[in-house]
Amino acid sequence: MANLVGQVAIVTGSGRGLGREEALDLAANGARVVINDIDLPGAKEAAYETAEDIKNAGGEAIVVLGDCADSNDASALITKTLEAYGDLNIMVNNAGFLRDKTIFSMSDEEFDSVVRVHLRGHFVNMRNATAYWRSKAKDGGLTHGRLISTSSEAVLYGSAGQPNYSAAKAGIVAMTMGAAQLMMRYGVTCNVIMPRAETDMTNSGPTAEMFKAPESGFHQFDPSNVAPLVTYLSSPESARISGEVFIVWGNQVNVLQRPKVLPAHENPNGQEKWSQAALHASLSSHFNDDYRSVLDGFSLPIDQG
Ligand SMILES: NC(=O)c1ccc[n+]([C@@H]2O[C@H](COP(=O)([O-])OP(=O)(O)OC[C@H]3O[C@@H](n4cnc5c(N)ncnc54)[C@H](O)[C@@H]3O)[C@@H](O)[C@H]2O)c1
Repeated sequence: MANLVGQVAIVTGSGRGLGREEALDLAANGARVVINDIDLPGAKEAAYETAEDIKNAGGEAIVVLGDCADSNDASALITKTLEAYGDLNIMVNNAGFLRDKTIFSMSDEEFDSVVRVHLRGHFVNMRNATAYWRSKAKDGGLTHGRLISTSSEAVLYGSAGQPNYSAAKAGIVAMTMGAAQLMMRYGVTCNVIMPRAETDMTNSGPTAEMFKAPESGFHQFDPSNVAPLVTYLSSPESARISGEVFIVWGNQVNVLQRPKVLPAHENPNGQEKWSQAALHASLSSHFNDDYRSVLDGFSLPIDQG
């Protein structure tokens, strides 16, 4: 068991799905957990159910309802956490929803709402948690700070039906990496998970079949399989791990490498602006006859090409 006794965690969107499992696991490992979900029918009851399940299992939890991307609600979330438990040590940003469409069919509202809930939702809570930890560190009182962000493999694989979601999830990686650099001096770790799980988010649509439980044996897409990594990244044992991105599902965890930058093409004419002819000649050596547009590019993993 990871020893999270005495630590205080917030998990956004923890009424259902991955957030619920992460909250249950953090609590089972000793953390006092603040369950956040949106104050809407269904979500609200789910949040109270997660908290009840934690308490019935002998753990500690409270519910603070609110929109993860609303500045006032996010302020209330951290304020009520501090009022109830006197500290915040673990901030798990998880909440979100989908509005999938291809780029040519997507409305402004579909774009904005998804970017808002994921990217702004991470931003406001990340800002509040890091500001709290920074100020505590300056007073000499910071003992334990862990930030865990939730991205998606949609970032890696150029998810064609999710331009809003994949862009927001890419922004979350970039924002978390910057926070990791800033918070290193305070001993606060900031990491990103890219989970896969069967939840309300994935149990309809084109990939629903893939996520279904098998008739028997290990259900690799059970959302509870993701929770141990979140607990581990929250624990004292992971103190040296920061600025990392993990793919997590089933019985496996992949650590992502940073993208590889190939050697530069340099203008053969020396220190001057490229001419079109020189640029075409130089890049044609890379994009030669063997090259396949898109399939060999940045947007698809090699085994899907
Ligand atoms: N399930 C997967 O395979 C998968 C893959 C990659 C990334 N993710 C990410 O994991 C996270 C959790 O997704 P999930 O699969 O558990 O989905 P889910 O739909 O089961 O759970 C999302 C939760 O967030 C809550 N929520 C939605 N809007 C909110 C808001 N404005 N404020 C507070 N709470 C809000 C919902 O009510 C719900 O409880 C999301 O960020 C999602 O993008 C999931």
